[in-house]
Amino acid sequence: MVRRVAVVGAGSSGLACIKICVDEGLEPVCFESSDDIGGLWNFRETPEPERTSIYRSLVVNTSKEMMCFSDFPMPADYPNFMHNSQLLQYLRLYAEHFDLLRYINFQTTVRSVLQRPDFSLSGQWEVVTINKNGQEERHIFDAVLVCSGHYTHPTLPLSDFQGHETFSGRCLHSWEYKDADAFTGKRVVVVGIGNSGGDIAVEISRSAEKTFLSTRQGAWVMGRMSTNGVPLDIAVIKRINNVLFQLLPKTLVNWVAERALNNKYDHRLYGLKPKHRLMERKPIINDDLPGRILQGAIVMKHNLEGFKDSRVVFEDGTVEENIDAVVFCTGYIGKFPFLPSTLSEGPYEEVTLYKRVFPPSLHPPTLAVMGLFQAKGPIMPTVEMQARWAVKVFLGQSRLPPKEKMLDVIESERRRNMQSYPCPRQAVLQVDYIPYLDFMAGEVGVQPKLLRLFLRDPALWAKVFFGPCTPYQYRLSGPGNWSGARQAIFTQWERVAQPFRTREIPENTSKFGLCSPLMLTFTGTVIIVVLFSKDKIVPTLEAVTEMLNKSTVFLRELWFSLPQNPDM
Ligand SMILES: Cc1cc2nc3c(=O)[nH]c(=O)nc-3n(C[C@H](O)[C@H](O)[C@H](O)COP(=O)(O)OP(=O)(O)OC[C@H]3O[C@@H](n4cnc5c(N)ncnc54)[C@H](O)[C@@H]3O)c2cc1C
Ligand SMILES: *[C@@H]1O[C@H](CO)[C@@H](O)[C@H](O)[C@H]1NC(C)=O
Ligand SMILES: *[C@@H]1O[C@H](CO)[C@@H](O)[C@H](O)[C@H]1NC(C)=O
Ligand SMILES: *[C@@H]1O[C@H](CO)[C@@H](O)[C@H](O)[C@H]1NC(C)=O
Ligand SMILES: *[C@@H]1O[C@H](CO)[C@@H](O)[C@H](O)[C@H]1NC(C)=O
Repeated sequence: MVRRVAVVGAGSSGLACIKICVDEGLEPVCFESSDDIGGLWNFRETPEPERTSIYRSLVVNTSKEMMCFSDFPMPADYPNFMHNSQLLQYLRLYAEHFDLLRYINFQTTVRSVLQRPDFSLSGQWEVVTINKNGQEERHIFDAVLVCSGHYTHPTLPLSDFQGHETFSGRCLHSWEYKDADAFTGKRVVVVGIGNSGGDIAVEISRSAEKTFLSTRQGAWVMGRMSTNGVPLDIAVIKRINNVLFQLLPKTLVNWVAERALNNKYDHRLYGLKPKHRLMERKPIINDDLPGRILQGAIVMKHNLEGFKDSRVVFEDGTVEENIDAVVFCTGYIGKFPFLPSTLSEGPYEEVTLYKRVFPPSLHPPTLAVMGLFQAKGPIMPTVEMQARWAVKVFLGQSRLPPKEKMLDVIESERRRNMQSYPCPRQAVLQVDYIPYLDFMAGEVGVQPKLLRLFLRDPALWAKVFFGPCTPYQYRLSGPGNWSGARQAIFTQWERVAQPFRTREIPENTSKFGLCSPLMLTFTGTVIIVVLFSKDKIVPTLEAVTEMLNKSTVFLRELWFSLPQNPDM
């Protein structure tokens, strides 16, 4: 019988795990090596070994309504994309509201997590910790939730580059980067175009003499803003879109989306274009990079090849002289030094996990790893759902398939993902946001029941199906339901709009003003005429009048059949 659960780490994942254990009547004991909560969102001036480290200016890339915990909406006045310090503030509110701090042992580092000799019967673990006075302690737990983060061990591939020992400038990893102060007036090469690489290159380019951004593969770059300035994720992550993506041919979806994106800035012209299609991988989120390229402050370069004194050589043979610093934004390797090495049983020596949560060889399944995945969506609500599932499995209320089946699933998912991510270690990490959440919600018994909603509460159904897939959807029914969930869904657009209301402008006339049916008709007609004339069928005057008439009728009908509520 599972009762005491160890939670390793008190970042956003650890906090969610503590809360969910308490909800389920378990006794969580959290160990946090630092002196505070928040993990990577707790900005520190100097990076600390084995811990995540962020730069001062970091702003989230997922919007507040999408990334909050499912039963704790963010305050309405928070900006949609907040600075890291404000996210920490939210985590403090969460911890305070659910009274989580009393379960945390600060300045206590987990050194090892070992199976007890009678593990196959008891499922128990021995957790060895070291406190701030260097004292070692041993504890027995019925289950373990690993929330130690995975942006902890930077990969710095220096030795891959010939002549690196001759380089006279400074080499650093983005893990060490805090701000651009040290780069004023310098000539800097940034290597790697992930989210960090893009942010850091943009920031350095504002004070450096010249900034070069070197990339092996290129990337699709999207801003945080969608049409009308609505947050990108809230506009895209919808159940209806998920259905459409599955029905429509992938090439068509890619073609349309790439075209729309290239209309803003042509990725080929800007030296950004990758080999892969837009929907195949996560695009990078950056509002300023194209602008900095346009202004010549950032110069795009091919992959880095090597160094020669103060010169940097790129794979296309070009050389940049007098380089003062190279910032490697080359990512991290997920390591869990305290876990038994037997859990790294996959063919690529990574921690092998069924559905990114459970090591398949553990029986009984009393250990779960949180947050070790990549998605085109927010991490926090996904981890929250992982924790809800993990706790159900610990309690025997949800069952895992046999080991062989789990290994098969892991490999088939890896193979599927390798169509877009050729690196097998990367491929295995990828999950599809809504289907992944829905799978776990199904196991927990909290999957929104669309048919029932449609019949009983059509207004809510419309929001759930056509609106953004906000985390509140997983608190509507079933175990752990929250009475505020429906209300939170109905007020989500209010909270999106609230931070903008600092200079209110009275709304006037008809909401859509002149641009309504009349304008639409006009545009529609122009499009039709243009299409026809392309086909060399020069329309006669009557034809035009007729088309105008037809399109008026059609568009008027279409217009009135559309939901008039922008909340959809
Ligand atoms: C630069 C950057 C930007 C990001 N931006 C976003 C974003 O906008 N939106 C989003 O959804 N996600 C984002 N992420 C992903 C982010 O990792 C997750 O959102 C989430 O914050 C991870 O939280 P965590 O608790 O799992 O890990 P962490 O925040 O890393 O917390 C781990 C905690 O465990 C502690 N710990 C580690 N080892 C031990 C040990 N042995 N014993 C005791 N304690 C230990 C650490 O001290 C730390 O407090 C970003 C990540 C990075 C690196
Ligand atoms: C946000 O940035 C982090 C850190 O680079 C990245 O891991 C995550 O995938 C990004 N999220 C989205 C939705 O792009
Ligand atoms: C909400 O949870 C309670 C307790 O678990 C349960 O009795 C109730 O049926 C749930 N409500 C809904 C709508 O699922
Ligand atoms: C302008 O908007 C206000 C508030 O919505 C409304 O009361 C008023 O009637 C509007 N004026 C006109 C001319 O439509
Ligand atoms: C449009 O067509 C309908 C019938 O098809 C006709 O009754 C109507 O008069 C036409 N309107 C105009 C503006 O031509």
